[in-house]
Amino acid sequence: MAIDPYLVAATVLCLLVHLLLHRFLRKSPSRFPYPPGPRGLPILGSLLLVGASAHSSLARLAERYGPIMFLRLGSHGCVVASNADAARAFLKTVDAQFANRPDPISARDVSYQRQNLAMADYTPTWKLLRKMCSLHLLGGKAFVDWAPVRRDEFRRMARSLHGLAEAGEPVELMDVLVCTLANVVGLILVSRRVFDAHGEESNKFKDILVDMLTGGAQFNIGDFFPSIAWMDLQGIQKKMLSVHLRFDAMVTKLFEEHEAAKGERQGRLDFIDKVMANKVTEDGETISEVNVKALIFDLFTAGTDTSAIIVEWAMAEMLKNPAILSRAQAELDDVVGRDRLLEETDLPKLAYLQAVCKEAMRLHPSTPLSLPHFSHEDCEVNGYYIPKNTRLLVNIWAIGRDPEVWEEPLVFDPDRFITGKGARYDPQGNDFEFIPFGAGRRVCAGKLVGMVFVQYLLGMLVHAFDWSLPDGEELNMDEKFGLALPKAVPLKVFLRPRLSPAAYA
Ligand code: HEM
Repeated sequence: MAIDPYLVAATVLCLLVHLLLHRFLRKSPSRFPYPPGPRGLPILGSLLLVGASAHSSLARLAERYGPIMFLRLGSHGCVVASNADAARAFLKTVDAQFANRPDPISARDVSYQRQNLAMADYTPTWKLLRKMCSLHLLGGKAFVDWAPVRRDEFRRMARSLHGLAEAGEPVELMDVLVCTLANVVGLILVSRRVFDAHGEESNKFKDILVDMLTGGAQFNIGDFFPSIAWMDLQGIQKKMLSVHLRFDAMVTKLFEEHEAAKGERQGRLDFIDKVMANKVTEDGETISEVNVKALIFDLFTAGTDTSAIIVEWAMAEMLKNPAILSRAQAELDDVVGRDRLLEETDLPKLAYLQAVCKEAMRLHPSTPLSLPHFSHEDCEVNGYYIPKNTRLLVNIWAIGRDPEVWEEPLVFDPDRFITGKGARYDPQGNDFEFIPFGAGRRVCAGKLVGMVFVQYLLGMLVHAFDWSLPDGEELNMDEKFGLALPKAVPLKVFLRPRLSPAAYA
């Protein structure tokens, strides 16, 4: 086959231009240098160094290049913060400059072209969506108002697990947790459960969630090389469009049914009723129906998996360390007794349970690289120049395992949050040594709810049941990196009720 000499010349020219550009782009135009980082290959930059488990490969690179590291990934610049000081510098000192989000192609359709909360830039609409969530869903008073929904659904879960335990059937924990949490979110948002144990609608919903979380997590070549994104070489954009169309059809139907059932909710308004009634503010800012659909998408995805993953890891760690499980059960027996299920109001009295949850969040943060931030102007951070349009990744996973802060960081030891150094760190985003919810302007909107979901669910499971692995099964503690960081092999367990039978009624 003859090789076209023009094609060869054009390719060589492109490579040369890219190499020159690459050199030129690494040269800081400011009096401050770029942060250190790998040089990377022409065109690809450091993409091949990042690999499939980005959180751990970036942590290894940071050991070599330092806690503030600059990488070129395809055509994007990316800065990575890998310890508490670096996180503080970005999420506190230059938080305003990094308050936007990047625009990954794979998230465009599912986020309704970023008209949601989680992927939107730091705009007045974002502020309004966040305010709505805080006022009517996730903030102090709303959080208290929705307590009965959490109680009913968690007790329903305990009853259903009791049934499985009596029947001697194994339980896939993640399934149970995600269904329970999605139902809590569904009841609060649109006054209805989205999962039943069986049923076509709930399976459809579950498939959408799974496709979204796996498709969104895949490494998409088009995101790093926008000029060839149109080719959709891996078919990810096509898959995400299909997820979006299925979700949109489902949520449109939910909206119609919600509107039709308005009369039945007199005096018992849900989140959507409240948002629709307040969608125009005094200063004229509005929320559209598309914003509301996109927000529903956020709340189902951000509000279910994140908490469930932490409970699953905590349970796995306790199965690995039976002494920790026994101590948590003894504390629960002491505070709650054996004649009733755990109540949310018991949680402040359960110091050891709280420590177990924090330790699980430290060692297994559900969003290991947080959500990416994006800079809208050049800035200087700790003596380094960071150009406009740089992505920021905060390696929450590496921060929780930093040996400079945490003694024996790989050991699961809840006591570090009672008598150790961890006791002085609050997870809400003020102490950068421990930031499972991120920090700054874009800190997790559901941090208060997330913390209670985790403590209440884990407490109820540990108090109400004894746990064991199926005979002959080894506990696999591998991680599966994606948008979130669940166990690679979902936890499957047998349960034995440990409370008096009336407690489950
Ligand atoms: C233990 C459970 C949870 C963890 C560990 C967690 C963690 C996080 C993290 C690390 C971020 C990114 C922060 C950043 O960009 O700097 C985030 C964002 C977010 N989370 Fe959570 N989250 C949890 C539960 C929840 C729940 C229950 C909800 C809602 C029901 C929620 C809603 C959100 C939203 C809407 C955002 C985007 C905020 C924004 O962009 O302004 N999260 N979460």
